[in-house]
Amino acid sequence: MRLILLGPPGSGKGTQAAVLSRRWGAPHVSTGEIFREAIRSDSELGSKVRRYTETGELVPDEIVNEIVFDRLARRDCQEKGFLLDGFPRTVAQARALDGWLADRGDGIDRVVDFEIGDEELIRRLSGRRHCEKCGRDYNIVFRPPRNAGLCDVCSGRLVARKDDSPESIRRRLEVTTETLNPLRDYYHAKGLVFAIDATGDVQEITEVLLAELGCAK
Ligand code: AP5
Repeated sequence: MRLILLGPPGSGKGTQAAVLSRRWGAPHVSTGEIFREAIRSDSELGSKVRRYTETGELVPDEIVNEIVFDRLARRDCQEKGFLLDGFPRTVAQARALDGWLADRGDGIDRVVDFEIGDEELIRRLSGRRHCEKCGRDYNIVFRPPRNAGLCDVCSGRLVARKDDSPESIRRRLEVTTETLNPLRDYYHAKGLVFAIDATGDVQEITEVLLAELGCAK
């Protein structure tokens, strides 16, 4: 399965991609996570992308395309397919991806479009936290830790992502308003889109996805 998870920030792409990836064994390729890891490890890529990611701007297409195609060329993606989370973000990226796959005789199988309103997105993103020691994810609204501010597993401190500040959330939503609809149109024209109401419970959404994508329990 070569799947794209499309949707605004906070719509649950990363949450669902992680579950589906565990279920299917296909790699979860998250451009946001690749950039955050590069920033954490102070790599050259990290220094190139930090100012974009932390302010909620898009990283230039040529940088994103190169790292995604390097990742997709690896054996696990070639053998098992992939779940793309956060890519493509522009029609130019989508065209580049189609070209890259077509050169290898491949193509995208399905595009899941996560539909959800801004008010709920802001609630989710404002509540998102992760443990700075072990990386485990929490949400102070939807998945709170047992002890406020501390990881259940390692007692590490819970922190917010830099781009989950109110200014950066606002900017990410503005950028999404400009870029998401043209991408939706691009994939609708190809007949690949399955739209899902992303406001439900995490598990319910997973069940709908598994049923639609032909992998129900
Ligand atoms: P990226 O990491 O891709 O961020 P994003 O698209 O803004 O998406 P998020 O990770 O914020 O949200 P999500 O939809 O994955 O939701 P999640 O599952 O975490 O990108 C970060 C930055 O990198 C970009 O701003 C840009 O600068 C750069 N970038 C990345 N890709 C790029 C590209 N292709 N081109 C250019 N630049 C690029 O859920 C959010 C919260 O809600 C969590 O706390 C979760 O627990 C909770 N939650 C999830 N589902 C539910 C549910 N059903 N009910 C209740 N709570 C839920």
